[in-house]
Amino acid sequence: MSIDINNTLQAVPVVPLVQSDDPATAVLVSRALAAGGLTVAEVVFRTDRALECLQAVAEEVPEMIAGAGTVLTAEQADAAVDAGARFIVSPGLDDGVVATAKARGVPVYPGIVTPSEVQHAHNLGLDVVKFFPASIAGGVPALKALSSVFRHMRFMPTGGVSPGNLADFLAVPAVLACGGSWLTPADAIAKGDYEQITTLAKEAVEIARQARGEQK
Ligand code: 3PG
Repeated sequence: MSIDINNTLQAVPVVPLVQSDDPATAVLVSRALAAGGLTVAEVVFRTDRALECLQAVAEEVPEMIAGAGTVLTAEQADAAVDAGARFIVSPGLDDGVVATAKARGVPVYPGIVTPSEVQHAHNLGLDVVKFFPASIAGGVPALKALSSVFRHMRFMPTGGVSPGNLADFLAVPAVLACGGSWLTPADAIAKGDYEQITTLAKEAVEIARQARGEQK
């Protein structure tokens, strides 16, 4: 895990998703998130122009630590790093994606659900995994069970995280950060309502501050 991403996520443990097929829009969404205090984001590979979006955010939004999300193949991981990705996120655990990210020197957060997958990730030398889809794969109780066994693993729950359950996930000590798309609603983006994105980001920052503050 790189030190700057780790430190940023310790301070503000929320990773929004940026999904767009237009690089200029991805830049505006990223700036709106950063204005709200969220400075680590996944640009997801779910559109034809996702790579261009990632490159634009990496080049034009220096306040954002931009990674690539929904990375399914080693080739995509390579292309993402070429485009400026500072980290790689996958929905599942793929040895080729992990090996490529390691070879390119960027952190990789593969998705896991089961103990076997966490163990596999551990044996690939990873210490952070995405827990996806968090809300339907057992939520907080599942995370607690996994983290009681894999004591050195940190988790990034994603999938069904919302303002209503963010604090519950962040209260689990093994959770490094939570990810999600609720911060970048498609209808707000379609309307060009970037203020809504900044407002949602600020709300998440405040929920995280309270959740983490209460643990101390
Ligand atoms: C992901 O790629 O991490 C998920 O699609 C996020 O899930 P969400 O849309 O429920 O936040």
